[in-house]
Amino acid sequence: MRRWILAVTAAALLFSFGACGRQEGKDSESGGNTQMEEGNKPEDSLASEDRDTENGSGAGAEGAGTNGASEGEGAVTGTEAGAAGASKDGGEGSGDGSASAEEGQVTGLAQLYEENFPIGVALPNYVFSHIEEYEQVIVDNFNSITCENEMKPDSLLDKKASQADLENTYLRAAVHFDNCMPAVEFALKHDMKIRFHTLVWHSQTPKWFFTEDYTDNGELVDRETMLTRMENYIADVLGYFQENYPGLIYAVDVVNEAFDVGNGDENGVRMKDNRWYDTVGDDYYYHAFVFARRYASEDMKLFYNDYGCMHKTKLILDHLKQAKEEGLIDGIGMQSHLSVTDDIRFTFMLAAKEFCEEGYEVQATELDIGVKESGKGSFRTQGSKYKSFFRGMQNLQEEGWPITNVTVWGLNDALSWRKDESALMFDEDMEPKPAYLGAMQDESVWDE
Ligand code: XIL
Repeated sequence: MRRWILAVTAAALLFSFGACGRQEGKDSESGGNTQMEEGNKPEDSLASEDRDTENGSGAGAEGAGTNGASEGEGAVTGTEAGAAGASKDGGEGSGDGSASAEEGQVTGLAQLYEENFPIGVALPNYVFSHIEEYEQVIVDNFNSITCENEMKPDSLLDKKASQADLENTYLRAAVHFDNCMPAVEFALKHDMKIRFHTLVWHSQTPKWFFTEDYTDNGELVDRETMLTRMENYIADVLGYFQENYPGLIYAVDVVNEAFDVGNGDENGVRMKDNRWYDTVGDDYYYHAFVFARRYASEDMKLFYNDYGCMHKTKLILDHLKQAKEEGLIDGIGMQSHLSVTDDIRFTFMLAAKEFCEEGYEVQATELDIGVKESGKGSFRTQGSKYKSFFRGMQNLQEEGWPITNVTVWGLNDALSWRKDESALMFDEDMEPKPAYLGAMQDESVWDE
């Protein structure tokens, strides 16, 4: 913990003091866009259906201690950072177990960007069951959280209860909220808001939800039945939060990943492994927005969320046009699963601006920036990419564009769904990496 506080203090001091200059050895800057986001798709829904969501699924549950990154490499240690910080005022930060800000100090990301937008983090239940290791860092840096898996349909839909009472549940599948309670309680405790992720998605949505008898092998229901199930699911989920936790959820990913030329029909609507497409048809995403607007409260902003947005802006804008004109959608969530070889400064930010120009709010909903090799050099490059990302979003916001959130997809490299690519800001020991200093706009991290 102490090392974390020292590092943060140093980052803050460096930020205001302006130590160090550009780092040498800019590596891995091969330039050019990659289809990295495409290459990092989640497992398909079949694979995820049997997952045990009780304990936090996927990387969260199995993640700890299995990271490929070699220990400490590229991390900014408390000692290094503390020493750097000490050069300004002769101290090494508070070091008293409290991270509260002294005058002029910045406690973390949320405070640094408080004039711009909330800063979020995706958390699996694993984190809440080991919260003493993570709480301080979360509180110091984030004021918004997203459940990494626990608000997805496979977490909220209740198969047993739906099957048990088919006469009453045929058009209205049963839902339960047990899996996401740790996140809700944590958010309430710390006065944080929640980004809801996600209502309508081809993945992590169990097959039984689409069948006649709510079994895995049943026959798929027809369009009208599935539209009614969709409406009732959206009504019940949004209704639950409005009734029990008014004001907690400020943004909702209504539809996730509906457009994908490689896996789609002739108009680029995703067909592959997509039972929404199989049952409702190619306009399923539009109906999801109709229902979401019908049941959302005014303080819940409605988002379309997708990966690879910077490579498919036109596709997305064309498909969302009708929903937008009818006032059914507020914003676009750019997942932002990036790589150090991606062009963030121009390509990504131009896409974000284009969405804004069309009248959408933009949120970066799942930021992580992967490196191929986890050496010191590549972590420095990663640092400059994080810096570029946060600075770019901040610049757009300061120019008056509605950039309304930046959320990182996980807390540390060991917990990340991309743990082979060390894509996050903290290493497995929760030491801040150059990526963190970059996000903090520290001058020790080079500007690209
Ligand atoms: C990922 C989670 O991080 C994993 O734990 C899970 O096993 C699969 O899903 N796009 C999304 C997120 O919208 O929901 C995905 O999250 C990552 C890609």
